[in-house]
Amino acid sequence: MKKILKGILYLILVLVVVLIIGAAFINFSGLPTYKVEMPENLKNLHVKIDSSTVARGERMASMLCIKCHMGEGNKLIGKHVDDLPKEFGTIYSYNITQDKEAGIGNWTDGEIIYLLKTGIKRDGSYAPPYMPKFPLMADEDIEAIVAWLRSDRPNVQASKEKQAINQPNFLVKFLCRVAMKPLPLQKSPILSPDSNNAVALGKYLSTGALGCFQCHSQDFKTNNEIEPEKSIGFFGGGNPMLDMDGNLVPSQNITFDKTSGIGNYSEDDFLRILKEGKRPDGTSTRYPMEPYSVLSDNEIKAIYAYLKTVPTLTNKN
Ligand code: HEC
Ligand code: HEC
Repeated sequence: MKKILKGILYLILVLVVVLIIGAAFINFSGLPTYKVEMPENLKNLHVKIDSSTVARGERMASMLCIKCHMGEGNKLIGKHVDDLPKEFGTIYSYNITQDKEAGIGNWTDGEIIYLLKTGIKRDGSYAPPYMPKFPLMADEDIEAIVAWLRSDRPNVQASKEKQAINQPNFLVKFLCRVAMKPLPLQKSPILSPDSNNAVALGKYLSTGALGCFQCHSQDFKTNNEIEPEKSIGFFGGGNPMLDMDGNLVPSQNITFDKTSGIGNYSEDDFLRILKEGKRPDGTSTRYPMEPYSVLSDNEIKAIYAYLKTVPTLTNKN
């Protein structure tokens, strides 16, 4: 009996030592780095910069990038990202203006797209979870964002200001070692959906381009970025999000469940929420749900049509 007890104690001791060594290893070795394996088409890419492409990219960026990267003086010099969970520590977004040192003026078009899709930077370092990834975005849209970054728009012009370099803490390092991994590049071109097919357009906007499912499923950690439908609690809400003061604002169930979802909202109700942030009962949606005022009625109706096809979940948040 004593022998068994001794054996168990010994085993526990070994486990504790292994855990401590493992944690120390993760903490000292920092964020993981990866091999940059850029396909030829990205290596040779020079995006087309004309007024309609830049306008398209600017519209996408107004919904996807500005909120985090716009710093003082209305320039994309980065800033303190203040709505992240405290556990992540103090995190800054970076300068993405055309400056060659402080910004991304030295990056090639392909390198920017490679980062946006996979999460791997040109030097092989990995952009942690607080920089979103866009693996399913159509080539036309992602190239338009790059065209906008290269354009003559005032907010992307070279600016030397730099933010402090992020010092990821143990949690971030741990997540990047075990849960958050680079995303695979899709092999074939990703075409924009047929804008006359409402369900296809709505699916693309809410799962490929605008990240509605990322916030509106159960948790960022259990989302499936490549096959969004496999995310736990797909569109059922409950993802714990924070407002600017650190208060909890869980995302809502936006499946068409009649009791806990949006099953009672008409198309007009949905249009008003998305455009103005006002629910039928007069209440306003709170940050981080911000109105999508640049979306057309047609696009919002398409999202509504697609959400109607998503299996309903009963989940009150
Ligand atoms: C939720 C906030 C957030 C959003 C939204 C966001 N970013 Fe970022 N971004 C960050 C943070 C934070 C970093 C710094 C990551 C790090 O520590 O490596 C970053 C890093 C980057 C970098 C790498 C810069 C460098 O020098 O390493 C690029 C390029 C970039 N973002 C472009 C974009 C673009 C383009 C968009 C929109 C399509 C976007 N980001 C949307 C937060 C965000
Ligand atoms: C950054 C995360 C985030 C993104 C991206 C996001 N949402 Fe939300 N959304 C939320 C949160 C959080 C709430 C809850 C706000 C509240 O309780 O006031 C919400 C609320 C809503 C509501 C109101 C539901 C109700 O309670 O009546 C609708 C509808 C909605 N979102 C649709 C969308 C659609 C469609 C998209 C994509 C175009 C989207 N959201 C993108 C976080 C997000």
